Amino acid sequence: MDFVEQIRRTHRCGELRGKDAGTRVVLMGWVHGARDLGAQLFVLLRDRSGQTQLRFDRGSEAHSVGATLRQEWVVAVEGEVVSRGGNVNKDMATGEIEVVVDRVQVLNQAATPPFVIRDDVDASEELRLKYRYLDLRRPILQDRLIKRAVVARVTRRHLDGRGFLELETPTFIKSTPEGARDFLVPSRLQKGSFYALPQSPQLFKQIFMVAGFDRYFQIARCYRDEDLRADRQPEFTQVDIEMSFVNEDDVMDLVEGLMADIVEEVTGQTLVRPIPRITYDTAMNLYGRDAPDLRFGMPITDVGTIFAQTEFSVFKAILASGGTTRGIRVSKASEKSRKEIDALTAFVQGYGAKGLVWLKVLEDGVSGPAAKFLDADQQRSLVEAMDAKNGDLLLFVGGHGKTVLLALGQLRMKLGPEVYPDRAKNFAFCWVTDFPMFELDEEAGRFVAMHHPFTQPKPQDLARLEIDPGSVKARAYDIVLNGVELGGGSIRISTPDLQQRIFDAMQISPEEAKAKFGFLLEAFTYGAPPHGGLALGMDRVVMMLTGASSIRDVIAFPKTTSGTCLMTGSPSEVDSRQLLDLGLKLES
Ligand code: AMO
Repeated sequence: MDFVEQIRRTHRCGELRGKDAGTRVVLMGWVHGARDLGAQLFVLLRDRSGQTQLRFDRGSEAHSVGATLRQEWVVAVEGEVVSRGGNVNKDMATGEIEVVVDRVQVLNQAATPPFVIRDDVDASEELRLKYRYLDLRRPILQDRLIKRAVVARVTRRHLDGRGFLELETPTFIKSTPEGARDFLVPSRLQKGSFYALPQSPQLFKQIFMVAGFDRYFQIARCYRDEDLRADRQPEFTQVDIEMSFVNEDDVMDLVEGLMADIVEEVTGQTLVRPIPRITYDTAMNLYGRDAPDLRFGMPITDVGTIFAQTEFSVFKAILASGGTTRGIRVSKASEKSRKEIDALTAFVQGYGAKGLVWLKVLEDGVSGPAAKFLDADQQRSLVEAMDAKNGDLLLFVGGHGKTVLLALGQLRMKLGPEVYPDRAKNFAFCWVTDFPMFELDEEAGRFVAMHHPFTQPKPQDLARLEIDPGSVKARAYDIVLNGVELGGGSIRISTPDLQQRIFDAMQISPEEAKAKFGFLLEAFTYGAPPHGGLALGMDRVVMMLTGASSIRDVIAFPKTTSGTCLMTGSPSEVDSRQLLDLGLKLES
């Protein structure tokens, strides 16, 4: 009979400690690596809880099998835990002990893996995604997925403790506009018709409120057919929340409490509350983004009034034609070389800026190509406006429209971690509030909702809805961590009349609105409570709290930036029979 059929695993590979010395144990796992020192063979055995050093003494029966073990073979071992005495390995949780093996059984052999299973792997991401099951064996990815499970567990515990119900909504739905393209699913029973996969459960959670299910949440899978980047996947997960009879503070307090619980469980750190709030306008003006990174200070300063007085014709011309000139101060960076500054110029040009004007701050003024166009007083005013000190570097961009803020916003995000490396690991949360209700879709020549069209405008702005929609602010809020939008939500519209006014402002006719969202508008006529909520991007939360640089590193089976799964080969062609069933024909 097989050894494993006779005995059961007694411990996980990460569990044993010094106090277990003398115990007989059975471990099962993967061979992580081996070192043959002649008299003794050491093998590291790994499972998702950690690693244990196994010792095979030369001459023992187990040693002859131990010597045949190869990387990633699956084995069962039995033996005695012994103390490593003075040879404790402080880098391993089980470093005080090793297991002297007297029985070993190979449960399965493994082909040589295409890359070595270790954290500092140097294989390409493509290769790792193709062999995702091997990549996922790496301790760092195991840790991230374990933390992902912690986030889900804490979310359920926290919200359950506050009277929330976890309710499901369908994944085959009528198209819900949230700004991105829908993924469509053809219907076999209703040929020629399509379901959409939800971009979020937005309309269903609002209908739950109408149905009386105050305090809903769901860990919901969402689908958006948009261009992918490091923090975007076509399918992702939201912690989706909706509450009735609430205002902004109620929702934000609830989410802060939840985030505090998550941060503590995942990182052991305490989230300082209340989370600071800044308005959208302030965020854009000071940090050039609606998702500001507050770790590094370095606010953007408008220096238009100063440059307008100078002889610096480039900026003067920009200002005279209605443009703006703004800058940031880079602390103690006046030693930067011409080459480094040229690289920064190329960087801002990548965001549409025409160039970068730099000045180095001296004891008694400034130096740099533009310095000669500023008299002593103007130099002093500039240094004062920028709150600068001797040895600082000032960087300015002039231009029109959104480019100046965009370029400087990106520049401060790039320079922040270089100037203040000690702050890079901090968590700087903030709320961004008072978003504009609409933004202009220049291609379509009409306004679209900045959050979504079910968001309530600020009551004090309602009078301008028809005359100046661009100036109307929304009761919308985003939660941001270190420059990444973690979640967004709003207080919703709950009356059909106001909802129609919003559709009008977006040039959606009553007929079109009825065809698309008639069910919601009708629901609002049957006693909809005031309500609001928010959705956290769960993948982004895990990414930020585990320090991962891409959302792909916290999703078990992610898609590439071109939307493919390299492990399974999806999306793939289907056979003509399947298309026929669906009444579909491909254009060749
Ligand atoms: P929103 O569209 O702002 O709001 O999405 C909420 C959060 O979901 C995450 N997110 C994504 N994560 C990964 N990949 C993507 N493609 C992706 N798109 C969005 C972000 C974002 O902050 N129904 C509303 C919420 C509400 O109003 O209650 C909604 O979906 O972290």
